[in-house]
Amino acid sequence: MSIQLSRRVVEMEESATLKMAQLARELRQEGHDVIALSLGEPDFDTPDIVKNAAKAALDDGYTKYTPVPGIPELREAISKKFKNDNDLDYSSAQIVVSNGAKQSIANVCQALLDEGDEVIVFTPYWVSYIAIVKLAGGVPVCLSAGVEDDFIISADQLEKAITPRTKMVLFSTPCNPTGSVFNREKLLSYANVLRKNPNIVVVSDEIYEHIIFDGERHTSIGSLEGMIDRTVTVNGFSKSFSMTGWRLGYIGAPLAIAKACTKIQGQFTSGANAFSQKAAVTALEQAYGEAAEMRDAFNQRRDLVLRLLNDIPGLKTNQPKGAFYVFPDVSSYFGLQSPDGKIEDAEDLCSYILKDAHVAVVSGDAFGAPDCFRISYAASEEQLRTAISRIQSSLIKLK
Ligand SMILES: Cc1ncc(COP(=O)(O)O)c(C=O)c1O
Repeated sequence: MSIQLSRRVVEMEESATLKMAQLARELRQEGHDVIALSLGEPDFDTPDIVKNAAKAALDDGYTKYTPVPGIPELREAISKKFKNDNDLDYSSAQIVVSNGAKQSIANVCQALLDEGDEVIVFTPYWVSYIAIVKLAGGVPVCLSAGVEDDFIISADQLEKAITPRTKMVLFSTPCNPTGSVFNREKLLSYANVLRKNPNIVVVSDEIYEHIIFDGERHTSIGSLEGMIDRTVTVNGFSKSFSMTGWRLGYIGAPLAIAKACTKIQGQFTSGANAFSQKAAVTALEQAYGEAAEMRDAFNQRRDLVLRLLNDIPGLKTNQPKGAFYVFPDVSSYFGLQSPDGKIEDAEDLCSYILKDAHVAVVSGDAFGAPDCFRISYAASEEQLRTAISRIQSSLIKLK
């Protein structure tokens, strides 16, 4: 029998970060000492206080289906968090908890996009945005900025990209993959453009909110004048609290969007995991200290990685102010010869580095920036030193 998969799935790109992780795993199985700097996952354990809350929740019977948009105490805690941390007024009825921020974004796209609707995506972008938008029938319109602009697009670019079909603007701050932070002034300039276009919804992915350095303050675009009624704020527990496997994300959204997302989630997956949600209340109420400790460790590693990369000629980096990634422009290596052939692009370079240095990084193509690659510094300082020294040795060999 010949199985005909849907056009939807055939046209969908495989997640590049997961693909790289698979290649690294294969090399490891062959006995090589591979260092993976390819995954967007904190290497810390979940704080004990959160784990203990989950254990208690299991004992207390949190093992059943949950209400589709989340258990009331978590939605209440998230509503408070939005108010206290972000100056965002979303009532608990406007909160929808999902199985990760990834699902939250997918829900919002399914809720808002009709075939052919345009979505402006700030580029470099997080890998999954494009697939999620396309799956909902949307057309991604990628607005790019390079390393010289700290990978941050201008309000002018935004204004010029808006058409009568524009339905949504989507970005992350702090940004995956660049670590760039859109500061208040920049967000104000975007808000000034967006306020003139009442049909556009902003989807602001703030999942790296707590991982922010250099005295930079995180600003939510939804907190700026006139923006709350047109902004969906996405967040989650994976990064700040090192809870990737717990699968919990959430949105605060205008009520009509929150209700639509609940309707979609009700048919697809139902409410998120019961004891994870109970533990997440504890994370929000009691684990900010642990989140700050992880942030400080990331900050030290960021400084170390930048220092080490600085010694490699031909790499151009910005100073990432958040998240746990560095995104160097490596285009000066294109056209050089490796033992396996010419390095045409970042993908060739990443394959060469994996084979020669046994270090996995992700080509910028996956993030809409083919001149760059992404290094995740969610790894120990020792691993980072070894990995970058190996990358340096491999790059020097290119002629
Ligand atoms: C910018 C961004 N948004 C969302 C997510 C998804 O997070 P979650 O684990 O909550 O689905 C990630 C994970 O890598 C991310 O980097």
